[in-house]
Amino acid sequence: MGMFERDTDIYRDRDALREDYQPEELVGRDEELDTYRAALQPVINGEQPNNVFLYGKTGVGKTAATRYLLEHLKEDTAQYDDIELTLVSLNCDGLTSSYQVATRLVNQFRSDTDQISTTGYPRASVYEMLWDELDACGGTVIVVLDEVDHVEDDSILYQLPRARANGNLTEAKIGIIGISNDFSFREELSPKVRSSLCEQEIHFPAYDAEDLQKILQQRVDIAFHDGVLNPGVIPLCAAYGAKDAGDARQSIDLLMKAGDLARDDDTEHVTEEHVDRGRRALERGRIKEGITGLTQHGHLVLYALLTLDLEGEVPVRSRDIRPRYTRFTEMAGRDPLVPRRMRDHLSELAMLGIISVTERNEGRRGGTYREYAIDMDLHLLLEAMADTVDDVGVHKSVQEFLDEDVEEPVVDTSLAEFATED
Ligand SMILES: Nc1ncnc2c1ncn2[C@@H]1O[C@H](COP(=O)(O)OP(=O)(O)O)[C@@H](O)[C@H]1O
Ligand SMILES: [Mg+2]
Repeated sequence: MGMFERDTDIYRDRDALREDYQPEELVGRDEELDTYRAALQPVINGEQPNNVFLYGKTGVGKTAATRYLLEHLKEDTAQYDDIELTLVSLNCDGLTSSYQVATRLVNQFRSDTDQISTTGYPRASVYEMLWDELDACGGTVIVVLDEVDHVEDDSILYQLPRARANGNLTEAKIGIIGISNDFSFREELSPKVRSSLCEQEIHFPAYDAEDLQKILQQRVDIAFHDGVLNPGVIPLCAAYGAKDAGDARQSIDLLMKAGDLARDDDTEHVTEEHVDRGRRALERGRIKEGITGLTQHGHLVLYALLTLDLEGEVPVRSRDIRPRYTRFTEMAGRDPLVPRRMRDHLSELAMLGIISVTERNEGRRGGTYREYAIDMDLHLLLEAMADTVDDVGVHKSVQEFLDEDVEEPVVDTSLAEFATED
Protein backbone atom coordinates (compact mmCIF):
# COMPACT_ATOMS: atom_id res chain seq x y z
CA MET A 1 0.00 0.00 0.00
CA GLY A 2 1.39 3.45 -0.90
CA MET A 3 1.76 6.29 1.55
CA PHE A 4 -0.97 8.20 -0.27
CA GLU A 5 -4.25 6.65 -1.23
CA ARG A 6 -7.18 8.20 -2.99
CA ASP A 7 -10.14 8.82 -0.73
CA THR A 8 -13.26 9.31 -2.73
CA ASP A 9 -16.00 8.32 -0.30
CA ILE A 10 -17.16 11.82 0.48
CA TYR A 11 -16.35 14.12 -2.41
CA ARG A 12 -17.20 13.76 -6.05
CA ASP A 13 -15.59 17.13 -6.88
CA ARG A 14 -14.30 19.08 -3.91
CA ASP A 15 -13.04 21.90 -6.13
CA ALA A 16 -16.65 22.97 -6.63
CA LEU A 17 -16.58 24.34 -3.09
CA ARG A 18 -13.52 26.48 -3.63
CA GLU A 19 -13.53 30.23 -3.91
CA ASP A 20 -12.40 30.19 -7.55
CA TYR A 21 -15.15 27.86 -8.76
CA GLN A 22 -17.67 29.49 -11.04
CA PRO A 23 -21.13 27.88 -10.93
CA GLU A 24 -22.76 27.34 -14.31
CA GLU A 25 -26.02 28.85 -13.15
CA LEU A 26 -26.71 31.33 -10.37
CA VAL A 27 -29.51 30.39 -8.03
CA GLY A 28 -32.26 32.87 -7.20
CA ARG A 29 -30.73 36.03 -8.66
CA ASP A 30 -33.09 36.36 -11.63
CA GLU A 31 -34.17 39.90 -10.99
CA GLU A 32 -30.66 41.25 -10.48
CA LEU A 33 -29.40 39.33 -13.50
CA ASP A 34 -32.21 40.72 -15.67
CA THR A 35 -31.32 44.28 -14.78
CA TYR A 36 -27.64 43.58 -15.19
CA ARG A 37 -28.14 41.91 -18.55
CA ALA A 38 -30.21 44.85 -19.76
CA ALA A 39 -27.43 47.22 -18.75
CA LEU A 40 -24.99 45.25 -20.91
CA GLN A 41 -27.36 44.95 -23.88
CA PRO A 42 -25.87 47.96 -25.75
CA VAL A 43 -22.64 46.01 -26.13
CA ILE A 44 -24.17 43.39 -28.38
CA ASN A 45 -25.85 46.15 -30.36
CA GLY A 46 -22.43 47.67 -30.95
CA GLU A 47 -23.37 50.76 -28.98
CA GLN A 48 -21.49 52.64 -26.30
CA PRO A 49 -21.89 50.53 -23.11
CA ASN A 50 -23.40 51.81 -19.89
CA ASN A 51 -21.34 52.20 -16.80
CA VAL A 52 -22.68 49.89 -14.13
CA PHE A 53 -22.25 50.05 -10.40
CA LEU A 54 -22.98 46.97 -8.27
CA TYR A 55 -23.18 47.08 -4.55
CA GLY A 56 -24.08 44.71 -1.74
CA LYS A 57 -22.34 43.02 1.16
CA THR A 58 -19.60 40.43 0.83
CA GLY A 59 -20.64 37.01 -0.48
CA VAL A 60 -23.92 37.99 -2.13
CA GLY A 61 -22.88 36.99 -5.63
CA LYS A 62 -21.66 40.24 -7.19
CA THR A 63 -18.43 38.83 -8.55
CA ALA A 64 -20.09 35.56 -9.57
CA ALA A 65 -22.89 37.39 -11.43
CA THR A 66 -20.37 39.57 -13.23
CA ARG A 67 -18.26 36.64 -14.37
CA TYR A 68 -21.36 34.75 -15.41
CA LEU A 69 -22.79 37.54 -17.57
CA LEU A 70 -19.49 38.58 -19.07
CA GLU A 71 -18.72 35.02 -20.10
CA HIS A 72 -22.06 34.87 -21.87
CA LEU A 73 -21.53 38.28 -23.40
CA LYS A 74 -18.14 37.23 -24.72
CA GLU A 75 -19.62 34.08 -26.20
CA ASP A 76 -22.62 35.79 -27.74
CA THR A 77 -20.67 38.67 -29.27
CA ALA A 78 -18.31 36.21 -30.96
CA GLN A 79 -20.89 35.58 -33.68
CA TYR A 80 -20.90 39.24 -34.77
CA ASP A 81 -17.98 40.26 -36.95
CA ASP A 82 -18.56 43.94 -36.32
CA ILE A 83 -18.06 43.66 -32.54
CA GLU A 84 -14.62 43.45 -31.06
CA LEU A 85 -15.08 42.96 -27.33
CA THR A 86 -12.23 43.15 -24.82
CA LEU A 87 -12.81 42.39 -21.14
CA VAL A 88 -10.42 43.55 -18.46
CA SER A 89 -10.98 42.68 -14.86
CA LEU A 90 -9.10 44.00 -11.86
CA ASN A 91 -9.64 43.29 -8.18
CA CYS A 92 -8.72 46.44 -6.27
CA ASP A 93 -8.17 44.71 -2.94
CA GLY A 94 -4.71 45.82 -1.87
CA LEU A 95 -4.68 48.78 -4.25
CA THR A 96 -5.20 52.11 -2.55
CA SER A 97 -4.73 54.71 -5.25
CA SER A 98 -5.90 55.50 -8.76
CA TYR A 99 -2.27 55.46 -9.75
CA GLN A 100 -1.91 51.82 -8.74
CA VAL A 101 -5.12 50.91 -10.52
CA ALA A 102 -3.96 52.63 -13.70
CA THR A 103 -0.56 50.89 -13.73
CA ARG A 104 -2.19 47.49 -13.13
CA LEU A 105 -4.59 48.13 -16.00
CA VAL A 106 -1.81 49.17 -18.37
CA ASN A 107 0.07 45.98 -17.50
CA GLN A 108 -2.97 43.83 -18.15
CA PHE A 109 -2.99 45.05 -21.74
CA ARG A 110 0.74 44.60 -22.20
CA SER A 111 2.83 41.51 -22.78
CA ASP A 112 5.03 40.09 -20.04
CA THR A 113 8.14 41.65 -21.53
CA ASP A 114 6.61 45.08 -21.76
CA GLN A 115 5.32 45.69 -18.22
CA ILE A 116 5.71 49.07 -16.53
CA SER A 117 6.94 49.49 -12.99
CA THR A 118 4.19 50.22 -10.47
CA THR A 119 5.96 53.30 -9.14
CA GLY A 120 7.97 56.18 -10.48
CA TYR A 121 5.95 57.62 -13.37
CA PRO A 122 4.00 60.84 -13.18
CA ARG A 123 0.32 59.97 -12.95
CA ALA A 124 -0.52 61.82 -16.15
CA SER A 125 1.87 59.70 -18.16
CA VAL A 126 0.42 56.47 -16.78
CA TYR A 127 -3.00 57.70 -17.90
CA GLU A 128 -1.54 58.46 -21.33
CA MET A 129 -0.26 54.90 -21.56
CA LEU A 130 -3.67 53.62 -20.52
CA TRP A 131 -5.46 55.64 -23.21
CA ASP A 132 -2.98 54.34 -25.78
CA GLU A 133 -3.61 50.73 -24.75
CA LEU A 134 -7.38 51.18 -24.78
CA ASP A 135 -7.36 52.84 -28.17
CA ALA A 136 -5.09 50.12 -29.52
CA CYS A 137 -7.74 47.57 -28.54
CA GLY A 138 -10.39 49.57 -30.31
CA GLY A 139 -13.91 48.17 -30.37
CA THR A 140 -15.69 47.84 -27.05
CA VAL A 141 -13.69 47.54 -23.87
CA ILE A 142 -15.31 46.63 -20.56
CA VAL A 143 -13.25 47.33 -17.49
CA VAL A 144 -14.36 45.64 -14.28
CA LEU A 145 -13.09 47.25 -11.09
CA ASP A 146 -14.04 44.77 -8.38
CA GLU A 147 -13.89 45.77 -4.71
CA VAL A 148 -13.35 49.31 -5.93
CA ASP A 149 -14.09 50.64 -2.43
CA HIS A 150 -10.42 49.99 -1.58
CA VAL A 151 -9.33 52.81 -3.86
CA GLU A 152 -9.03 55.95 -1.79
CA ASP A 153 -9.04 58.68 -4.43
CA ASP A 154 -11.53 58.98 -7.22
CA SER A 155 -9.31 60.28 -10.03
CA ILE A 156 -9.46 57.08 -12.08
CA LEU A 157 -13.19 56.77 -11.46
CA TYR A 158 -13.60 60.19 -12.94
CA GLN A 159 -11.15 59.78 -15.81
CA LEU A 160 -12.12 56.35 -17.12
CA PRO A 161 -15.84 56.89 -17.73
CA ARG A 162 -15.14 60.27 -19.33
CA ALA A 163 -12.14 59.32 -21.36
CA ARG A 164 -14.07 59.50 -24.59
CA ALA A 165 -15.94 62.68 -23.77
CA ASN A 166 -12.66 64.32 -22.79
CA GLY A 167 -11.06 63.37 -26.09
CA ASN A 168 -8.58 60.95 -24.54
CA LEU A 169 -10.02 58.04 -26.49
CA THR A 170 -11.02 58.07 -30.13
CA GLU A 171 -11.15 54.39 -31.09
CA ALA A 172 -12.36 52.45 -28.08
CA LYS A 173 -15.82 52.53 -26.57
CA ILE A 174 -15.34 51.94 -22.90
CA GLY A 175 -17.74 50.77 -20.21
CA ILE A 176 -16.89 50.55 -16.53
CA ILE A 177 -18.33 48.03 -14.11
CA GLY A 178 -17.62 49.12 -10.55
CA ILE A 179 -18.30 46.67 -7.73
CA SER A 180 -18.37 47.64 -4.08
CA ASN A 181 -18.97 45.73 -0.85
CA ASP A 182 -19.55 48.98 0.93
CA PHE A 183 -22.58 51.07 0.15
CA SER A 184 -21.23 54.18 1.86
CA PHE A 185 -18.55 54.22 -0.84
CA ARG A 186 -21.14 55.35 -3.34
CA GLU A 187 -22.40 58.07 -1.01
CA GLU A 188 -18.90 59.41 -0.59
CA LEU A 189 -18.16 59.74 -4.30
CA SER A 190 -18.15 63.27 -5.58
CA PRO A 191 -21.36 64.06 -7.50
CA LYS A 192 -19.55 64.32 -10.83
CA VAL A 193 -18.01 60.85 -10.40
CA ARG A 194 -21.23 59.36 -9.17
CA SER A 195 -23.25 60.60 -12.09
CA SER A 196 -20.94 59.03 -14.65
CA LEU A 197 -19.87 55.87 -12.83
CA CYS A 198 -23.30 54.95 -11.47
CA GLU A 199 -25.38 55.28 -14.65
CA GLN A 200 -26.97 51.97 -13.84
CA GLU A 201 -26.97 50.85 -10.22
CA ILE A 202 -27.78 47.34 -9.12
CA HIS A 203 -28.19 46.35 -5.53
CA PHE A 204 -27.53 42.76 -4.45
CA PRO A 205 -29.43 42.14 -1.21
CA ALA A 206 -28.13 39.73 1.45
CA TYR A 207 -29.30 36.13 1.21
CA ASP A 208 -31.66 34.65 3.78
CA ALA A 209 -31.36 31.09 5.07
CA GLU A 210 -33.77 29.81 2.43
CA ASP A 211 -31.76 31.33 -0.46
CA LEU A 212 -28.60 29.90 1.01
CA GLN A 213 -30.08 26.42 1.25
CA LYS A 214 -30.80 26.49 -2.48
CA ILE A 215 -27.32 27.73 -3.29
CA LEU A 216 -25.79 25.05 -1.10
CA GLN A 217 -27.97 22.34 -2.62
CA GLN A 218 -26.73 23.25 -6.09
CA ARG A 219 -23.13 23.00 -4.92
CA VAL A 220 -23.69 19.80 -2.94
CA ASP A 221 -24.97 17.98 -6.04
CA ILE A 222 -21.68 18.67 -7.77
CA ALA A 223 -19.27 18.39 -4.87
CA PHE A 224 -20.51 15.40 -2.88
CA HIS A 225 -21.54 11.87 -3.71
CA ASP A 226 -25.24 11.13 -3.43
CA GLY A 227 -26.55 10.45 0.04
CA VAL A 228 -23.36 11.50 1.85
CA LEU A 229 -24.88 14.45 3.70
CA ASN A 230 -27.07 14.01 6.75
CA PRO A 231 -30.34 15.95 6.48
CA GLY A 232 -29.38 18.63 8.99
CA VAL A 233 -26.15 19.61 7.28
CA ILE A 234 -27.43 22.01 4.61
CA PRO A 235 -29.86 23.84 6.94
CA LEU A 236 -27.12 24.30 9.54
CA CYS A 237 -24.62 25.66 7.01
CA ALA A 238 -27.28 27.97 5.58
CA ALA A 239 -28.23 29.26 9.03
CA TYR A 240 -24.59 30.02 9.73
CA GLY A 241 -24.23 32.16 6.59
CA ALA A 242 -27.56 33.87 7.15
CA LYS A 243 -26.82 34.73 10.75
CA ASP A 244 -24.44 37.58 10.42
CA ALA A 245 -24.29 38.69 6.86
CA GLY A 246 -26.32 36.63 4.39
CA ASP A 247 -22.99 35.58 2.96
CA ALA A 248 -22.93 32.56 0.62
CA ARG A 249 -19.17 32.25 0.93
CA GLN A 250 -19.40 31.64 4.68
CA SER A 251 -21.97 28.90 4.15
CA ILE A 252 -19.96 27.19 1.43
CA ASP A 253 -16.75 27.43 3.47
CA LEU A 254 -18.47 25.79 6.41
CA LEU A 255 -19.80 23.02 4.21
CA MET A 256 -16.30 22.34 2.92
CA LYS A 257 -14.86 22.36 6.42
CA ALA A 258 -17.50 19.85 7.54
CA GLY A 259 -16.78 17.67 4.50
CA ASP A 260 -13.05 17.76 5.24
CA LEU A 261 -13.61 16.78 8.86
CA ALA A 262 -15.78 13.87 7.76
CA ARG A 263 -13.07 12.80 5.36
CA ASP A 264 -10.44 12.99 8.11
CA ASP A 265 -12.70 10.84 10.27
CA ASP A 266 -12.76 8.23 7.54
CA THR A 267 -16.53 8.04 7.63
CA GLU A 268 -18.94 7.96 4.74
CA HIS A 269 -21.30 10.59 6.08
CA VAL A 270 -21.10 14.28 6.82
CA THR A 271 -23.01 14.82 10.03
CA GLU A 272 -24.39 17.74 12.00
CA GLU A 273 -21.57 17.18 14.42
CA HIS A 274 -19.02 17.76 11.65
CA VAL A 275 -20.73 21.06 10.89
CA ASP A 276 -20.56 22.02 14.52
CA ARG A 277 -16.86 21.24 14.75
CA GLY A 278 -16.30 22.99 11.44
CA ARG A 279 -17.99 26.11 12.70
CA ARG A 280 -15.76 26.19 15.75
CA ALA A 281 -12.69 25.70 13.61
CA LEU A 282 -13.67 28.57 11.31
CA GLU A 283 -14.41 30.81 14.26
CA ARG A 284 -11.11 29.93 15.80
CA GLY A 285 -9.40 31.00 12.59
CA ARG A 286 -11.26 34.29 12.51
CA ILE A 287 -10.48 35.10 16.13
CA LYS A 288 -6.88 34.24 15.60
CA GLU A 289 -6.80 36.59 12.66
CA GLY A 290 -8.43 39.33 14.75
CA ILE A 291 -5.96 38.89 17.56
CA THR A 292 -2.97 38.65 15.27
CA GLY A 293 -3.94 42.02 13.82
CA LEU A 294 -3.72 43.76 17.18
CA THR A 295 -0.71 45.81 18.30
CA GLN A 296 1.48 44.63 21.15
CA HIS A 297 -0.30 46.95 23.59
CA GLY A 298 -3.61 45.47 22.54
CA HIS A 299 -2.20 42.07 23.42
CA LEU A 300 -0.87 43.28 26.75
CA VAL A 301 -4.21 44.80 27.74
CA LEU A 302 -5.91 41.57 26.76
CA TYR A 303 -3.45 39.43 28.68
CA ALA A 304 -3.98 41.53 31.81
CA LEU A 305 -7.74 41.17 31.50
CA LEU A 306 -7.43 37.46 30.81
CA THR A 307 -5.53 36.81 34.03
CA LEU A 308 -8.05 38.86 36.01
CA ASP A 309 -10.78 36.79 34.43
CA LEU A 310 -9.04 33.57 35.45
CA GLU A 311 -8.83 34.87 39.01
CA GLY A 312 -12.55 35.53 39.07
CA GLU A 313 -12.09 39.31 39.24
CA VAL A 314 -14.30 40.17 36.27
CA PRO A 315 -16.21 42.23 35.35
CA VAL A 316 -13.53 44.75 36.09
CA ARG A 317 -13.06 48.49 35.56
CA SER A 318 -10.23 49.80 33.44
CA ARG A 319 -8.55 51.47 36.46
CA ASP A 320 -8.36 48.02 38.06
CA ILE A 321 -6.92 46.46 34.92
CA ARG A 322 -4.29 49.16 34.76
CA PRO A 323 -1.83 48.01 37.46
CA ARG A 324 -1.53 44.59 35.92
CA TYR A 325 -1.33 45.95 32.40
CA THR A 326 1.46 48.29 33.55
CA ARG A 327 3.40 45.46 35.11
CA PHE A 328 2.99 43.18 32.09
CA THR A 329 4.10 45.97 29.80
CA GLU A 330 7.25 46.46 31.83
CA MET A 331 7.91 42.72 31.85
CA ALA A 332 7.73 42.81 28.07
CA GLY A 333 10.27 45.66 28.10
CA ARG A 334 7.87 48.37 26.92
CA ASP A 335 6.54 51.65 28.33
CA PRO A 336 2.87 51.57 29.35
CA LEU A 337 0.41 53.78 27.50
CA VAL A 338 -1.52 56.54 29.27
CA PRO A 339 -4.89 55.41 30.72
CA ARG A 340 -6.85 56.97 27.89
CA ARG A 341 -4.95 55.09 25.21
CA MET A 342 -5.22 51.90 27.24
CA ARG A 343 -9.00 52.36 27.26
CA ASP A 344 -8.95 52.79 23.47
CA HIS A 345 -7.48 49.32 23.26
CA LEU A 346 -10.25 47.97 25.46
CA SER A 347 -12.81 49.53 23.14
CA GLU A 348 -11.14 48.00 20.11
CA LEU A 349 -11.14 44.56 21.75
CA ALA A 350 -14.83 44.98 22.50
CA MET A 351 -15.50 45.94 18.91
CA LEU A 352 -13.81 42.76 17.74
CA GLY A 353 -16.09 40.76 20.02
CA ILE A 354 -13.17 39.41 22.05
CA ILE A 355 -14.21 41.11 25.28
CA SER A 356 -17.55 42.34 26.57
CA VAL A 357 -18.39 45.75 28.02
CA THR A 358 -21.12 46.60 30.51
CA GLU A 359 -22.19 50.16 31.32
CA ARG A 360 -22.79 50.65 35.05
CA ASN A 361 -24.47 53.41 36.98
CA GLU A 362 -23.00 54.88 40.15
CA GLY A 363 -26.55 55.28 41.45
CA ARG A 364 -27.62 58.59 42.92
CA ARG A 365 -24.27 60.26 42.39
CA GLY A 366 -25.01 59.90 38.72
CA GLY A 367 -21.74 58.86 37.04
CA THR A 368 -21.48 55.91 34.72
CA TYR A 369 -18.54 53.62 34.21
CA ARG A 370 -17.69 50.57 32.15
CA GLU A 371 -16.74 47.10 33.20
CA TYR A 372 -14.94 44.55 31.08
CA ALA A 373 -14.75 40.78 30.85
CA ILE A 374 -13.45 38.22 28.38
CA ASP A 375 -16.12 37.12 25.95
CA MET A 376 -14.64 34.08 24.29
CA ASP A 377 -13.15 30.68 24.85
CA LEU A 378 -10.07 31.08 27.05
CA HIS A 379 -8.26 28.21 25.39
CA LEU A 380 -8.63 29.76 21.98
CA LEU A 381 -7.51 33.07 23.34
CA LEU A 382 -4.40 31.69 25.02
CA GLU A 383 -3.54 29.80 21.89
CA ALA A 384 -3.73 32.96 19.81
CA MET A 385 -1.72 34.95 22.35
CA ALA A 386 1.12 32.46 22.79
CA ASP A 387 3.75 35.01 21.69
CA THR A 388 2.65 37.62 24.20
CA VAL A 389 2.57 35.06 26.97
CA ASP A 390 6.13 34.19 25.97
CA ASP A 391 7.23 37.85 26.10
CA VAL A 392 5.66 38.57 29.47
CA GLY A 393 5.93 35.20 31.17
CA VAL A 394 3.25 32.73 32.21
CA HIS A 395 1.09 34.24 34.90
CA LYS A 396 0.22 32.12 37.93
CA SER A 397 -3.45 32.07 37.01
CA VAL A 398 -2.66 30.83 33.52
CA GLN A 399 -0.37 28.18 34.94
CA GLU A 400 -3.13 26.91 37.21
CA PHE A 401 -5.69 27.05 34.44
CA LEU A 402 -3.47 24.94 32.20
CA ASP A 403 -2.57 22.51 34.99
CA GLU A 404 -6.23 21.60 35.36
CA ASP A 405 -6.21 20.72 31.72
CA VAL A 406 -6.07 17.28 30.31
CA GLU A 407 -5.54 18.63 26.81
CA GLU A 408 -2.16 19.53 25.34
CA PRO A 409 -0.84 22.75 26.88
CA VAL A 410 -1.39 25.62 24.48
CA VAL A 411 1.49 27.75 25.76
CA ASP A 412 4.96 26.76 26.74
CA THR A 413 4.92 26.82 30.53
CA SER A 414 8.60 26.02 30.81
CA LEU A 415 9.17 29.76 30.48
CA ALA A 416 7.18 30.48 33.64
CA GLU A 417 9.51 33.17 34.96
CA PHE A 418 7.10 34.83 37.34
CA ALA A 419 4.50 32.17 37.72
CA THR A 420 4.19 32.69 41.46
CA GLU A 421 4.41 36.47 41.67
CA ASP A 422 1.71 39.15 41.69
N1 LIG B 1 -26.84 32.99 -6.48
C1 LIG B 1 -25.79 32.17 -6.38
N2 LIG B 1 -25.81 30.93 -6.91
C2 LIG B 1 -24.73 30.11 -6.78
N3 LIG B 1 -23.60 30.46 -6.14
C3 LIG B 1 -23.53 31.68 -5.60
C4 LIG B 1 -24.60 32.60 -5.68
N4 LIG B 1 -24.26 33.73 -5.04
C5 LIG B 1 -23.03 33.54 -4.57
N5 LIG B 1 -22.56 32.33 -4.91
C6 LIG B 1 -21.25 31.79 -4.54
O1 LIG B 1 -20.92 32.31 -3.26
C7 LIG B 1 -19.58 32.77 -3.23
C8 LIG B 1 -19.54 34.25 -2.96
O2 LIG B 1 -20.05 34.96 -4.06
P1 LIG B 1 -19.28 36.21 -4.70
O3 LIG B 1 -19.81 36.42 -6.06
O4 LIG B 1 -17.81 36.02 -4.57
O5 LIG B 1 -19.77 37.35 -3.71
P2 LIG B 1 -19.37 38.90 -3.70
O6 LIG B 1 -18.58 39.19 -4.93
O7 LIG B 1 -20.70 39.59 -3.66
O8 LIG B 1 -18.59 39.09 -2.43
C9 LIG B 1 -18.97 32.37 -4.56
O9 LIG B 1 -18.32 31.15 -4.38
C10 LIG B 1 -20.17 32.25 -5.48
O10 LIG B 1 -19.91 31.31 -6.50
MG1 LIG C 1 -16.61 39.81 -4.93
